[in-house]
Amino acid sequence: MTRDFSTVGVIGLGTMGAGIVEVFARNGIDVVAVEVDGPAIEHGKAVLGGSTGRALARGKMTQEEHDALHSRVTFTSNLEDLAPCQLVVEAVPEHLDLKKDLLGKVDAVVSADAILATNTSSLPVTEIAVATKNPKRVVGMHFFNPAPVQQFVEVIRTVITADDVFEDVKALAERLGKNPVVVGDKAGFIANALLFGYLNHAVSMFESRYATREDLDAAMRFGCGYPMGPLALLDLIGLDTAYEILDTMYKQGRDRLHAPSPIIKQMVSAGMLGRKSGRGFYTYE
Ligand code: CAA
Repeated sequence: MTRDFSTVGVIGLGTMGAGIVEVFARNGIDVVAVEVDGPAIEHGKAVLGGSTGRALARGKMTQEEHDALHSRVTFTSNLEDLAPCQLVVEAVPEHLDLKKDLLGKVDAVVSADAILATNTSSLPVTEIAVATKNPKRVVGMHFFNPAPVQQFVEVIRTVITADDVFEDVKALAERLGKNPVVVGDKAGFIANALLFGYLNHAVSMFESRYATREDLDAAMRFGCGYPMGPLALLDLIGLDTAYEILDTMYKQGRDRLHAPSPIIKQMVSAGMLGRKSGRGFYTYE
């Protein structure tokens, strides 16, 4: 690893971003955590605090470790504060233009050898890369939800990513305790390409009243040993994110497997985004 990654940046403190901040800070890395405004920062702080508070309450972390973790994180709404970062990971919503615009701006702020990473689940990393002046330093660094728990990271290497860039990101993922794989820039990469056809199928079974949500989830939990059933998992991922992922994969591959089941879009329009909005396939307190 040629870079020491003592300071990194994370942009977007939603479900994934706040978890990614925690992963870095837990591993002794200083984090500049960026959100658009004060309320969004407060929300990100609450997500991070909820997760570390739970770890503290369960005795998985001492008070000292907890406080040290939080002391490593600086919150800001100013992209210029990313200047000292050797890596910046963006984890903003799955909209191509937003990600392109953002990394284009970060490109102008960080030093020449810093790495720019996108946590996109399915958007073309190459297109995001070419929106910057130096596409060789852009990779995908795709974490899984909940990021502090799941031990997998996909490192997406485009045709123009420099070797030292994806090698350093892979080594960093190992330092974070993850099992990284390097994959090419194809919608859904590996895990989502396999997972989302299954999730979409479960939604269409639910939509056609083939089985109840509880029975669909029970089948996969108790019959197949999955940690969560497909509808509970979609609530965890977020229905808006799931819709964007399916839609991107459908547009790229045109296979019916990934044509988003209509009810997903309807639920998104109705604000039923899953856990984060309090209601999805299930209701949350
Ligand atoms: N943030 C941080 N930690 C969390 C957490 C969260 N949101 N949710 C759970 N945890 C931690 C708990 O604190 C607990 O930690 P300890 O064991 O150290 O005490 C551990 O995870 C287990 O949690 P629980 O006992 O509460 O519950 P569980 O055993 O049912 O596990 C789960 C919860 C980890 C979410 C598990 O059900 C699971 O792995 N589900 C599948 C998740 C999955 O498939 N994720 C991938 C989604 S696809 C994706 O992310 C890619 C994409 O691009 C959309």
